[in-house]
Amino acid sequence: MAKHILVTGASRGLGFHLTRLLVHQGHKVLAVARSQEGLLQLKQDCSAMKGQLILQAQDINNVEELVQEVERELQTVDVLINNAAAFLKKEFTKLSRDELQRIYNTNVFTPLLLVQQLLPLFNSHAHIVNISSVGGVQGSLKFKELLPYSSSKGALNIITECLAAELDEHLVYCNALALGSVSTQMFKKAFPGFSAGASPNEMAKYIAHFALNAAPLINGKVISVSHTNP
Ligand SMILES: NC(=O)c1ccc[n+]([C@@H]2O[C@H](COP(=O)([O-])OP(=O)(O)OC[C@H]3O[C@@H](n4cnc5c(N)ncnc54)[C@H](OP(=O)(O)O)[C@@H]3O)[C@@H](O)[C@H]2O)c1
Repeated sequence: MAKHILVTGASRGLGFHLTRLLVHQGHKVLAVARSQEGLLQLKQDCSAMKGQLILQAQDINNVEELVQEVERELQTVDVLINNAAAFLKKEFTKLSRDELQRIYNTNVFTPLLLVQQLLPLFNSHAHIVNISSVGGVQGSLKFKELLPYSSSKGALNIITECLAAELDEHLVYCNALALGSVSTQMFKKAFPGFSAGASPNEMAKYIAHFALNAAPLINGKVISVSHTNP
């Protein structure tokens, strides 16, 4: 059955491949990112597919605007994939409050506020999937200059566990996938010269299957999807 799905960060990388796959499978997907160009490429790729693609070019940090668009276009939500993320690689001693706020706004506060404000629109048994990183898992190998990004994913992991408790009575489920390396623009910025453990298409297949099938058997979990580090 066709699901109503919101994917953030769909203009490139994982979100692009994930959206294309979900539309190919016949779902109705609202795809969000700031770049018109990436979204228009997505529209072209999906033009002959059986599902329905709706594009929304905006900054996800304008949560109210995004929620209004979801209400207008999807009315209800079966799956939310919080995939968009901000990235920064910078020496610890040079970090500013503004930079920390930018990373935490996009990677922590917005995914949380989006869930809060979408609550009336979630269908019973809806599934929220937060796309996290192995860098945000306690005890994993950490790398210099990635403190804001990795710690924001650590916060997202705990938020996932808390949300599962908060949403229990609404029959809405929430999990995080802590990804290893995937060959995207973000990975190339983080680890120039390294090759990633997975292609965006391979990882998108795993995420799509998990988002559509894992809940309610899996809920409130942070699952590492990785065989390399980075
Ligand atoms: N690649 C990896 O190795 C890896 C590893 C672990 C976890 N992850 C996670 O996987 C997810 C996808 O990463 P990726 O590698 O595909 O990254 P990417 O290539 O940098 O793509 C990020 C996407 O997020 C969107 N985005 C960022 N900030 C946004 C904002 N404020 N509003 C709207 N859209 C925004 C970007 O679109 P616009 O710029 O057009 O807005 C883009 O579509 C992220 O959560 C990332 O942390 C990736």
